[in-house]
Amino acid sequence: MSIKNMGEPKRIGILTSGGDCSGLNAVIRAVVNCAVDTYGWEVLGIRQATLGLMARPPQFTKLEIDQVDSLLTAGGTMLGTTNKGDPFAFPMTDGSLCDRSEEIIAGYHELGLDALIGIGGDGSLAILRRLAQQGGINLVGIPKTIDNDIGVTEHAIGFDTAVNIATEALDRLHFTAASHSRVMILEVMGRDAGHIAIAAGIAGGANVILIPEIPYTVEHICHKIKERQEKGKNYCLIIVSEAVRTHDGENVTITNRLGQSRYGGIGEYLADKIIEHIGVETRVTVLGHIQRGGTASPLDRLVATAFGVAAVNLIAEDKYDRMVTWQNRQVLSVPITEAIAQYSAVDPNGTLVKTAHGMGIYLGD
Ligand code: F6P
Repeated sequence: MSIKNMGEPKRIGILTSGGDCSGLNAVIRAVVNCAVDTYGWEVLGIRQATLGLMARPPQFTKLEIDQVDSLLTAGGTMLGTTNKGDPFAFPMTDGSLCDRSEEIIAGYHELGLDALIGIGGDGSLAILRRLAQQGGINLVGIPKTIDNDIGVTEHAIGFDTAVNIATEALDRLHFTAASHSRVMILEVMGRDAGHIAIAAGIAGGANVILIPEIPYTVEHICHKIKERQEKGKNYCLIIVSEAVRTHDGENVTITNRLGQSRYGGIGEYLADKIIEHIGVETRVTVLGHIQRGGTASPLDRLVATAFGVAAVNLIAEDKYDRMVTWQNRQVLSVPITEAIAQYSAVDPNGTLVKTAHGMGIYLGD
């Protein structure tokens, strides 16, 4: 034990909210180690994001160091999460929407929490902040999202692992593409930002990288494939971000039997267009949730651990309504309002775009 502050024992809550990703458990481990071992506090792990605070009795697990010891390499989140059910417009079983924010706030106070660490993307952090303002919750935010679209932080937890997985997929597709003289299209996640596609595309040697931020033409993609063939390269690797639109600007989505839509299908759309235009055999791989699963990369584990410790230190200093950030190899913090106000897309004039252009990769026009 290295307890340095026994004076003001605190009971803090921690929850994960929104889509899961690799590295969440590493944050939980860091928070518990620092809060319990360094400060001698109690940590309650709230189940299923805000649903755990909405439930009666509130659903939580008291977290001890022994329980989190083995979490460093575990994927997912031991606390569970949800990316559905905005508490301010909560979908009820009769189909109506109900404001259940007060139940969550009451859950926080019922547990006697002094502070809450919320790990989420911009949507979750906006909801948590609204709850905090309304109900006197001492909130500290930690950014996570494979999409890496939160403006004030260079790293959100989960992004680096997703890029590693997408890069490895390209590495594997490379050989089968060359063996069969095919065009291989890899469709990756990222929602409206092309960060995963451009990072993995450059790292994995893609010949075409398509991101939502830059328009493209099918003709130019086909020109790139042909140009490579003329140079004796019998294959072409294309990585496309899920939110890339059709050539006439339509979103490509999948709608399930419940009528719920999500991005998906741009890879198949492009494959059809390529076959139609130049008749080159084309195959599509949709990476999907594999990008969010499994052991976190060393960088994600490092950032997760640094963020967890920094969040606990903010609470020790009674600094709330802030989100930890990674900027220039340092962990800092900014007001949560600033974090959620600054959406980060790929900068069409940024370093990665220039790098891709310099490598002769077709990135759009
Ligand atoms: O925001 C993370 C993310 O993985 C996006 O990249 C993707 O569009 C979406 O979540 C998928 O959501 P779901 O897990 O609900 O299918």
